[in-house]
Amino acid sequence: MSWTAIEKLKERARLGGGPEAIKKQHAKGKLTARERLDLLLDEDSFIELSMLALSRCTEFGMAEKRVPGDGVVVGLGEINGRKVAVYAQDFTVIGGSVGEMHAMKIAQLYDLALKLGIPVIGLNDSGGARIQEGVNSLKGYGEIFYRNVLASGVIPQIVSIMGPCAGGAVYSPALADFIIMTKKSFMFITGPRVVKAATGEEVTFEELGGADIHTSVSGVAHLLAEDDEDAISLIKTLLSYLPSNNMEDPPIEPTEDDPEREDYELDNIVPQDPREPYDMYEIINRVVDRDTFFEIHGNFAKNAIVGFARLNGRTVGIVANQPLIYAGCLDINSSDKIARFILFCDSFNIPIITFVDTPGFLPGIDQEHGGVIRHGAKIIYAYSLATVPKITVIVRKAYGGAYIAMSSKHLRADVVVAWPTAEIAVMGPEAAVEIIYKRELAKAENPQEMLLKFTKEYREKITTPAVAAFRGYIDDIIPPHTTRPFLIKTLEMLLTKRPYIKLPKKHGIPPM
Ligand code: HXC
Repeated sequence: MSWTAIEKLKERARLGGGPEAIKKQHAKGKLTARERLDLLLDEDSFIELSMLALSRCTEFGMAEKRVPGDGVVVGLGEINGRKVAVYAQDFTVIGGSVGEMHAMKIAQLYDLALKLGIPVIGLNDSGGARIQEGVNSLKGYGEIFYRNVLASGVIPQIVSIMGPCAGGAVYSPALADFIIMTKKSFMFITGPRVVKAATGEEVTFEELGGADIHTSVSGVAHLLAEDDEDAISLIKTLLSYLPSNNMEDPPIEPTEDDPEREDYELDNIVPQDPREPYDMYEIINRVVDRDTFFEIHGNFAKNAIVGFARLNGRTVGIVANQPLIYAGCLDINSSDKIARFILFCDSFNIPIITFVDTPGFLPGIDQEHGGVIRHGAKIIYAYSLATVPKITVIVRKAYGGAYIAMSSKHLRADVVVAWPTAEIAVMGPEAAVEIIYKRELAKAENPQEMLLKFTKEYREKITTPAVAAFRGYIDDIIPPHTTRPFLIKTLEMLLTKRPYIKLPKKHGIPPM
């Protein structure tokens, strides 16, 4: 083939679906695959791979439709000077549908990323399995899914959904570590038409699988982006907290925030009345390096908070209860959210800081029937498994199973401290007193007065953090204003932590 012919093929590949299809893509408020990559990658850093890969399928009009590159742009590049492997599906080419070659390009990219130890970033915009290619398309998906699993816990996988993502195609993002959805995107196993035929329910694309639903109700996606530009900016920020692979430590970002900074406002955040809520974000933001808290799953299961932050420039994973929602109770969704985040942090050498204020697991028929037992068990499993440095701050309530689950010493947290406001017990003082003094209260002339008296006594003798400190279950009771310098100093000490020796086994069987 002449050089001119090769150049022509390359030009054809760069053009994607052609001017008409590009115009349609823009009219939908979406960028093309190459425009997205231009925004994502450092200038002139992109090395494109398999640009000329061509579908073997010529049936059903494919001979005319197929385009070199096969509807996905893949390659290596840099983001803020760090190497990444990227693929961007091109909706302008046969709806970004995944044919044999399209899938092979993504699978080969994963193989290379695993060898290089660099994150894979996927920009998805696809009509799913290419109908004309039948089982060859399905095989391609299978090869991608298998790579997703191989790469899990080895290199970070971040996927942004920027258009359709339907059918079995959803499982590649679902197997990745983070999903960012733009407001123009949707994800579902079966679309509105099939839903109507199967169940009679009428629903729009957005209501069924839009970005709002998946970031708040289903929890399938972790971050909501306004548009393509916003999604790309979120990818860059997220990446800045992560190492490139599981053999590396996360990057250090120098900070102007004084590691010795004390914050006296922290002494007044927890209200006197233990039933009164307060905002846990306030504590997190005052403790970590200024403006570094980057929340994950922020709109989903808001009774728990997870996200990345920095302490004296080092990435940490933050896990916390949020007393503003359900009084900070753990439930099915918050258990899933917390457990998965812990496993991610542990895989990628990110120390975990836990702020505890939870009265326990949420009571209710829905919760019990929904399997809160097996979901709650995930938190215990994840914290017990995690060998990264783990520091716990008990801010207020740490009751019952939730005390144990939220990174207690008993699950091998390295250092556990409490604020003076901490209450650690099998259950809340009022409930406890009502059970153990049931007979006395029934006979009392003034049961309310008696309840108050016993509750006060219970608080002083049982729930005070001093009792746990006497037993060594917590290491110290610290003034809240010293939390930041305390965490930074302790974290530095724990950095040499080595995983304890585990009994040989293939793998455990985590609750699911
Ligand atoms: C082949 C496809 C395609 C597909 C879209 N196209 N999806 N071609 N296979 N899966 C083509 C269209 O025919 C059209 O070609 C072009 O892409 C643009 O699509 P439009 O329909 O014009 O775009 P739009 O109106 O924006 O609608 C987008 C869409 C719709 C909602 C995604 O195209 C659609 O419903 N596609 C089918 C989705 C689907 O059911 N996929 C299979 C899911 S099952 P022309 O030539 O007209 O421009 C699955 C199984 C995976 O993925 C299993 C893995 C385990």
